[in-house]
Amino acid sequence: MPDTPDLPIARTIADLRQTVSGWRRQGFTVGFVPTMGALHDGHLTLVREAGQRADRVVASVFVNPTQFAAHEDLGAYPRQQARDAELLAGAGCALMYAPSVEEMYPADATTTVSVGAPAEGLEGAFRPQMFGGVALVVAKLLNQVQPDVALFGEKDFQQLIVIRRMVRDLDIPVEIVGLPTIRDGHGLALSSRNAYLSPDELEVARRLNGVLAQAGVRAAGGSPLPAIEDGAREALLRAGFSHVDYVAVRRADDLAAFEGGTVDGPARILAAAWLGKTRLIDNMAV
Ligand code: PAF
Repeated sequence: MPDTPDLPIARTIADLRQTVSGWRRQGFTVGFVPTMGALHDGHLTLVREAGQRADRVVASVFVNPTQFAAHEDLGAYPRQQARDAELLAGAGCALMYAPSVEEMYPADATTTVSVGAPAEGLEGAFRPQMFGGVALVVAKLLNQVQPDVALFGEKDFQQLIVIRRMVRDLDIPVEIVGLPTIRDGHGLALSSRNAYLSPDELEVARRLNGVLAQAGVRAAGGSPLPAIEDGAREALLRAGFSHVDYVAVRRADDLAAFEGGTVDGPARILAAAWLGKTRLIDNMAV
């Protein structure tokens, strides 16, 4: 694909580094937004905010195979790089970084990144492949781009916690910024996977945030968490979700459980539920 008139595209680490080191020589700071493409306003909000925090913004578009299990939607994941490039240019991005799988993962690469406790449970329990793959690719991307600041959405809240811990534990010199989830007019969290939903499923999907908000209010009021979590799970099934992987209220800073069974500090309610073949996640502050 040729570059869009407005947006250069780097496809190799060498090209990326050449552009970024040119900026560094001019004294510019660098912001970074990692994505898997199929961009929506949630991503573009991150890019615009990166532009407020740094002189030049790089966004990566890379559907990362190591974070998908064999049975997951790697093949079907929406890919639309030409449109992504246009959207990124419009949001003020200065460089799109879109490496191939071969560029990212040399055939004889053997190193893994395992973050431990924050990656266990919740998403980690249902998608055991995921956070090893996310941590590996984000560590590589941060080393490749070497930004001053990198921005992630709170929509993938556990991912944000995992990345913060990895960056701290590995002394990666970057500021990690999390931004609130962007929602549609009905409160549905924007996600590239929403594209899989039929019109009927979309209507059900839009009830997820309301169920979580209500359960969150009860949790904040001191009601016992197991009853709240069970009640929210049943409400989701009644709303039309075909299956609920989890609804959980956890500590906001590290996603540990509240041992006393009620909320006694900053908390987050998180859920994952299925509509047919589509798995949706959402979370919000309690
Ligand atoms: O959130 C995502 O889109 C991906 O998990 C990320 C952070 C770009 C890593 O592949």
